[in-house]
Parts: sequence; C-alpha cells; structure tokens
Amino acid sequence: MTTLRSDAWYSGDDRNAYIHRAWMRRGVPSSAFEGRPQIAIANTASDLTPCNMHLTEVAKSVRDGVYEAGGIPLELPVVSLGETQVRPTAMLWRNMAAMATEEMLRANPIDGVVLLGGCDKTIPSLLMAAASVDIPAVVIPGGPMLTGTFRGRPLGCGTDVWRLSEEVRAGTLSQEDFVTSESATIRSKGHCNTMGTASTMGLLAEALGMVIPGTAGTPAPDARLLEASHAAGGLAVDLVASARRPSEVLTKASFHNAIVALGAIGGSTNAVVHLLAIAGRLGIDLTLEDFDRIGSRVPLLVDLAPAGRFLMDDLYRAGGLLAVLREVRDLLDPSAMTVTGRPLVDYLDDAAIWDEEVIRRREAPLLDEGGVAVLRGNLAPAGAVIKPAAASPHLLKHRGRAVVFESIEDFHARVDDPDLDIDAESVMVLRGCGPKGYPGMPEVSNMPLPKKLLAAGVRDVVRVCDGRMSGTAYGTVILHVAPEAAAGGPLALVRDGDWIELDVEARTLTLDVPEAELEARPSSPEAAAAYAAPRRGWERLYVDHVLQADTGADLDFLVGSSGSEVSRESH
Ligand code: FES
Repeated sequence: MTTLRSDAWYSGDDRNAYIHRAWMRRGVPSSAFEGRPQIAIANTASDLTPCNMHLTEVAKSVRDGVYEAGGIPLELPVVSLGETQVRPTAMLWRNMAAMATEEMLRANPIDGVVLLGGCDKTIPSLLMAAASVDIPAVVIPGGPMLTGTFRGRPLGCGTDVWRLSEEVRAGTLSQEDFVTSESATIRSKGHCNTMGTASTMGLLAEALGMVIPGTAGTPAPDARLLEASHAAGGLAVDLVASARRPSEVLTKASFHNAIVALGAIGGSTNAVVHLLAIAGRLGIDLTLEDFDRIGSRVPLLVDLAPAGRFLMDDLYRAGGLLAVLREVRDLLDPSAMTVTGRPLVDYLDDAAIWDEEVIRRREAPLLDEGGVAVLRGNLAPAGAVIKPAAASPHLLKHRGRAVVFESIEDFHARVDDPDLDIDAESVMVLRGCGPKGYPGMPEVSNMPLPKKLLAAGVRDVVRVCDGRMSGTAYGTVILHVAPEAAAGGPLALVRDGDWIELDVEARTLTLDVPEAELEARPSSPEAAAAYAAPRRGWERLYVDHVLQADTGADLDFLVGSSGSEVSRESH
C-alpha cells in the first residue's frame, strides 16, 4: 500500500492518531483513514466574490469524483478575493491568499488538492500556494459568465463598463441609460466574459498543464463544467497514487507554453506578474525578457474583447484553448506535461476550430504579433510592459510632453480641469501606484482621458504608470514600470513638460532629460511620503517585503518552496 502524507496523522494506535481520527470520524467509518487519499477541495467560493459563488456547486461534483475514485473529499474554504469589491485593490491581498492557502494545505492531513478558482487573483494565489507546498494538485477554472446584451448589443463585462462610462463623459450616452445597462452586464454565474485576467489565468492554468486539457473556458453555467469537475476529483486521487506533483508539471517548458498561449489569446498583461510569481515559487528562472523573447511575436488568433469583437462564450463554442494552441503547435515546447501525465501537445490532434471568425487560422491572424512587449530605458531600468494589441497603432512610436499626476487622487482631482495643459500628443504619467506606493499595484494605469480631449474626439493617448491595468481595459498604456516611483525609480523624477519617447518596435521608453539634470532632481516628495505612511498588519508586512513587478510582486520571504513536510505534532 502507498504511504500517504496523511498517514503521519492517522496511522497507528497511539493517542495522537486517536485524536486526529476521532475528531474527523463523525459517522465516517475507520476505513476512511486506512490508505484512502485525503483530497482537499480548496474553494474560493464566497458571497463577496460573486464570480466564484457557483464554486460551491462545482465542489459537490468534485466530491462525487473523489469518492468514486476511492478518496476522501474535504472542503477547505480559502481566502477569496472579489476583484470588484475588495479595497484598495485585490492585488494587495494576492500574496496573503497564497500564503494562507499554502500554510493550510501544509498544516492539514491532506494528500492532494483540487483548486477551485475563477476571479482574477484566485487562480494565481492557488497556484502559488500549490507550487510552494508541492502536493499533487489540479485546478478547475470556474469559467466565464454567459454573454449579456443591452439594446441588442452584447456586453463584455468590464470592457463595456469603461466604454459606456467614457460615452457618458463624452456626452453621447445619458446617465439614465448608463444605469439601466447595469443589470444586463452580469448575465449569469461565472467570471468576467472578456479576455480579462480571470479568463486569461484560467486558460493559462491549462496551458501550464495544471487543468485537465479542454476544460478551461467552459462557461460557468455549462453542465460540462460539472462533468469536468467530477473528473478532476477522480484525477486528484490518481495524482496521489502516482505521486505527480506540481513541480513536475510546472516546468520551464510549461511556462514557455503559457507565454505562447498568452500571445495567441491576446491575454491580460496581469498574467506577466502572476506567471513570474508562480515561477518564483518553483525556483524556475523566468524573466521579463522571456515574455518578449517567446511571446511577443506570437500571432494573435483570438478575436475577443477588450481588443476584439467576441466574448468567452464564443471562444468555447469556437473550439477553446486547444484549438488555438493547435495553430501555434510549432511554437510550443512538446516536452511540457499536464496533470494527466500526458504532454499538452498530445491533446492538440483532436482539437478543431468551429468558427474561424472567433479563432483565426495561423495564416490569417488578427495581428502578426499579439504578445506582450517589454520596454526598457532610463524611465524603466528594470522594465515595463505594453500590450500592443490593445494599443492604438499610431501611438506605438510616439514622442510627447509629460503631464504628471502624483497619485490616482491627484489624477481624479485635476483630469477634467479645463486649464489642464494637455493635448492629443501629451503623455500622461501616473505614479505612486506600484506595489509599495499604493500599496498593492492597483489597476488604475488606464487613466480615463480628460473630458476636453474626449470632446475633441481623442480616444487614446500614451499613458505611463507603475501600476497595472485591468485585463478588460485597452489603450496605449505602459504598465508595471519598474522600479516604481515609491521604490526610488526614475518615474519619481518626471516633471510636467518633460519629453517622453516611446518606441515599441525598438522596445524603448525614454525620458529625454539629460542624465546630469535627472541626477540633480529631487525625487517626488509625494512618492516618498506614500511609502513612509504609518501602517500595521498585512499592509506593513506587504510594504516592507513586496518585490517589484519585474519579478512578480511576491513577498521576498515567500519566493521558493517549503515543501509539505511538518515535523512537529500539535499536542
Ligand atoms: Fe471577477 Fe472580473 S470581477 S473576473
């Protein structure tokens, strides 16, 4: 009989084993503790994470699958993060959720785990946790919601909120109509239906090999999600039997494939920070340059909002991730394995495209280069990212004068000031939004345009920020500038009127101010003050230990793995 991790709690006749078993019995026969894998269902369902509420139902199917395969299912509620609800930003809590999940997986008598996530930060935090504990694990992405419609037009949740609110600001949509659209936006259970962060990370979890291939992107209300969940429960039991751990699935090869997938689906820029953080937990040498080297020239094949026309329901109908990956098979690393024990590329033979408008053929891509571009220069010495597919082509090479905002509050206070010295050529700079400065690196980088520019018909200008951008947003936005202003980055030195030069083709972002002058400039006092603000609890821990965006914004002491070993008894 295979030795199980949980045997350290349950086997034997001594007092400790008695206590561990007795408190778990509650009607369960003693055979439940005799060689049967104990499978946790790490569940991020929460009424305050509306995108994940349905995971309670999903968990029931997982339970059935675990039982049927001979395991014991144990539901483990873990920290959940509702992207739209949590202040000041869910990203502040991603590492906390990862740390809490990691510790609970390690502390409990668990042999394997099924990870249920959906909303933006939930899958990244679960993967970070599973990578650090390294017990057999499989992910079930909760899936996107169905497409809502408003006055005959489909609504991409997230993306169309930005569009409709811009129309209100521009005076082309009434406030009343805007509010009326609210109840049509979220049509069903599930996460955002655009190619935002939740959709991206669900699909990338599959590209990484951590999801049963063909499952990610199944709409949340679709019965096939429950069928896949049942199968994942059974697989978790098999994973324990074969001792297949995340560290065997999550390799440099699987991250390579995830980066290819990110480019082909036109996924969220947030995936860069999350993949770097997950890789960091495994000691995999993944860098910002890998995203540019592997991914930037991958053709964009999926025509989904925010940049495109369709929504996640359409992608699933059109063939899903496997159909996309089949088109870029030659770019994938064939050695990457999945949780099933078979290589990812094995699953591509049977994949097919059912709608070539939604998923383009390789020879007819939406864009030749769909991935994330990494910029460097004296304004971002450690790097910054831009998603060219979401940008305006005419701004990809641009030189303009800086209009600087010290914080998002400063931005809100002044953006619509008629006297703001700004025009279509300007470069909007927002600082104080990095991991330490905000703190938590919020999704504020896609600053709404000033009313006077909107009224003049301008719909995009170059924007530069040390924060992130919602995966459902769009525009010529340079993100994740590192080091951030609050960590002493040169972003803190920019002044109104400075020339900034962007050249995406050359991968440069330059502050055109003589070096000697920059050296003589004092840093923004607001940036320093934000960092030095008195804090306690998690914020204190976070600000003192968070790393910069170019390495994944994890906490310095959480990088790496502690494994699953717990040597001391509790009593
Ligand atoms: Fe949860 Fe968008 S708010 S996925």
